[in-house]
Amino acid sequence: MAAPKYQAPRGTFDVLPEPARARERIERTAAEIFARAGYEPIATPSFEDTALFERGVGHSTDIVRKEMFTFEDKGGRSLTLRPEGTAPICRAYVEHGMQQLAQPVKLSYLGPFFRHERPQAGRYRQFHQLGIEAIGTESPLADAEAIELLAELLAELGVPGVELRLGSLGSLDTRQAYLEELKAHLRANQDELAKEVRERIEINPLRAFDSDDEGTRAVMATAPKLVERLEGDDAEHFEEVRALLDAAGVEHTIDPTLVRGLDYYTRTIFSFVCDRLGAQSEIGGGGRYDGLVEQLGGRPTPAVGWAAGIERIMLALDEDVAAPGRDVFIAVAEDDRDKRALALVLAGELRKAGLSAELDLAGRALKGQLKQADRIGARRVLILDEESAQLRDMASGEQRQVDTGKLVDEITGGEA
Ligand code: HAM
Repeated sequence: MAAPKYQAPRGTFDVLPEPARARERIERTAAEIFARAGYEPIATPSFEDTALFERGVGHSTDIVRKEMFTFEDKGGRSLTLRPEGTAPICRAYVEHGMQQLAQPVKLSYLGPFFRHERPQAGRYRQFHQLGIEAIGTESPLADAEAIELLAELLAELGVPGVELRLGSLGSLDTRQAYLEELKAHLRANQDELAKEVRERIEINPLRAFDSDDEGTRAVMATAPKLVERLEGDDAEHFEEVRALLDAAGVEHTIDPTLVRGLDYYTRTIFSFVCDRLGAQSEIGGGGRYDGLVEQLGGRPTPAVGWAAGIERIMLALDEDVAAPGRDVFIAVAEDDRDKRALALVLAGELRKAGLSAELDLAGRALKGQLKQADRIGARRVLILDEESAQLRDMASGEQRQVDTGKLVDEITGGEA
């Protein structure tokens, strides 16, 4: 019987070297931007206690209700592959007493996340996010700076067709009062609503703004909007965030229907959408979550942050990053054990000096080795033959004898 052919699980995929290079560029650019703004890297585990997400992300969300990869460990504990990074980072903030540090604590992260969603372009079951969190500040400056950093990242990467939508959910009290008003509107029009919206009037009425159903959309067009109900400090905070974004030249549109799929948001919420992405058009988003740290057992601590989907950035960029080529390929003229050992030693010396060097690992004849050197874009080939070593410049075809004892100098002209 033929051996079975294995494939990556549904909704997951392998990142082969070409896209991996594009991904590296994204990650490097983000890491530089985060470091320049003083956001320090943090890494949390890939799985956490299930209760952390139930509490943090919220029982009424699709993520908790339907999308978590939850399993029992051998000790009977319920664990969940992290569907998002903000609740784990707040858990780490509380667990490691970071409230004792100078505030805000500014953190950046990057890694895999897991949601059992229906896979489609831009939506996967294992995907990768990069993001930042500024924990311990309620200043609108923190919101504006965080948003500005995502705008800067997308601009620096060259992501085309990006638009920023901004909204505010107000504080928990404002939201509570508004939700009652919204529920009343939904109940009064329930015959017009899609079944799943009707069923969730009491659990999560805000998500009705997200519906694609025509009847629901008509009802939502006349629904009261939360941004119009903002008062006092909430209204002032939102005004200030907008003014700061204007001052920083970050274009945005106010979207009174903007909602997000996580329950922890308060006040500012935002979403960067990209017109190259089709149905899954959000490339990154986030907002303020002033109640989350306290909900996870910490002191009341306001915070703001965002995450962007690395696969979605890659889809929007749709770019090939060329292979970097090699400084030197080391070829041996004859299949001689000593020469192959010398090739290994010389490759090590070149790499230590910061040059890229490869050797033949396939036992090719010299002609095949030269072909391979060409294929990988080697700028020079060092040919070790019986008596001497020849260095060939692949562009000009020029060849000269070199002293292998001074190979690094021979190549760099003594500048390495
Ligand atoms: P989120 O909106 O759920 O927010 O996810 C952030 C980003 O992750 C999305 O904008 C999208 O680009 C990407 N993403 C989400 N789900 C998938 C998927 N199934 N496949 C591919 N990409 C996906 C959060 O996770 C919050 N923790 C963001 C945040 C940080 N808020 C405050 N701080």
